[in-house]
Amino acid sequence: MNKLVTSLGVDMSAYWLPYTPNRYFKKTPKIMQSAHGAYYYDDQGRKLFDGLSGLWCVPLGHGVERIGAAIQKQFNTMDYCPAFQMASAETFRLATRIADMAPEGLNRVFFTNSGSEAVDTSLKIAIGYHRSLGNASRFRMIGRERAYHGVGIGGISVGGISANRKMFSSLMVPGVDHLPHTYNLSQMAYSRGQPTWGAHLAEDLERLVALHDASTIAAVILEPMQGSTGVLVPPQGYLQKIREICTKHGILLIFDEVITGFGRLGANFAAQRFGVTPDMITFAKAITNGVIPMGGVIVREDIYNTIMNQGGQEQVIEFFHGYTYSGHPMPTAAAHAVLDIFEEDDIVKRASALEPVLENAIHALKGIPTVLDIRNCGLAAAIDLEPMKDQPGLRGMHVLEACIENGILVRISGDGIVVCPPFISTPAEVENLVATLGRVIKKLA
Ligand SMILES: Cc1ncc(COP(=O)(O)O)c(C=O)c1O
Repeated sequence: MNKLVTSLGVDMSAYWLPYTPNRYFKKTPKIMQSAHGAYYYDDQGRKLFDGLSGLWCVPLGHGVERIGAAIQKQFNTMDYCPAFQMASAETFRLATRIADMAPEGLNRVFFTNSGSEAVDTSLKIAIGYHRSLGNASRFRMIGRERAYHGVGIGGISVGGISANRKMFSSLMVPGVDHLPHTYNLSQMAYSRGQPTWGAHLAEDLERLVALHDASTIAAVILEPMQGSTGVLVPPQGYLQKIREICTKHGILLIFDEVITGFGRLGANFAAQRFGVTPDMITFAKAITNGVIPMGGVIVREDIYNTIMNQGGQEQVIEFFHGYTYSGHPMPTAAAHAVLDIFEEDDIVKRASALEPVLENAIHALKGIPTVLDIRNCGLAAAIDLEPMKDQPGLRGMHVLEACIENGILVRISGDGIVVCPPFISTPAEVENLVATLGRVIKKLA
């Protein structure tokens, strides 16, 4: 049997690619060879504008020397230190810096290695907190339809994408319910920023409280802006209402900011952009500019204190959870370098300044055949395309491939196209990304 090989003759059999149609990919491989600034270079000699910031994780562009130098320096000093019973002073300093960027009151940081681990950690903290308060009956979690919270057992349980759940339904955490998603084409087509319709959908939380009783519900977890299912922007007033209902019933509110954290919406966190403070925030991705994995949970001080105070004698561990690589010195060094650049180059402001450029460019694509809707918020935007008859996702795949031929990378999710360019993009690069995407969609319509 013929082996499937890359252009350089590398056998592709062994590698099982994540979240990728493997059989299709191995026939039409997309092999990246190098990356510098806002561009990748592939094995066909093409230069590709990184319209999806890595996977939402490279806001500063690729190959930032300062990050590399910080990692090298840390490697020369101390490459690893046990995460349990010990720590590097730099990890404490990083936790303080992250807390300083977060909304007031959220100032305790638990480190993980990914967004998925951050989500599962936040759910465990929620359960641990209520139990410490003597409320072990609060075990239910509430997620939302169309939510993506990573791939841990907790994350897929509170997540709302059936494809991520159906194969693993026997593993689902019990006692999880879902709020409806907030997307409604007939009410909010072609919204710029937050739709005006839909705040009332938050009332569904009251229905779930009435159904289960507040005394059984531990937490609600939401992406303030749903990223993976296509930039679903919260309706005006929706998050405020969710916050009010959670506070009224003693339910913790977790914002999953794995995508939105560290500037994507033109503020440090989406919580600040939308003016709603949750009880915990999960983060990952941009904190290290994608160079080394790191994630974490930022927690309200009194949640931490409650768990500490119920921890028994001082030599006893209060919270039986953690990873070998929690607060690892190498990603910690990368994160410090990233935050230095954020501060010195006013990076969040740069992202914010690009928002109207992206908004105007993307909404100019309205009217192209097959375009069903366009949405945007911060430095992120999505276009929904009409699926091809009986072949869901094929139009999206064709768009991705034609984009690559035309020098841009975009993110596809079925027949939805998402762009989330690096914060260091120039306005002309953002405009060119969108104009190229528009030409591709038109040609394939
Ligand atoms: C909102 C959200 N939560 C969690 C995750 C999972 O992060 P990771 O892939 O680092 O586990 C993602 C990934 O895109 C995400 O968008």
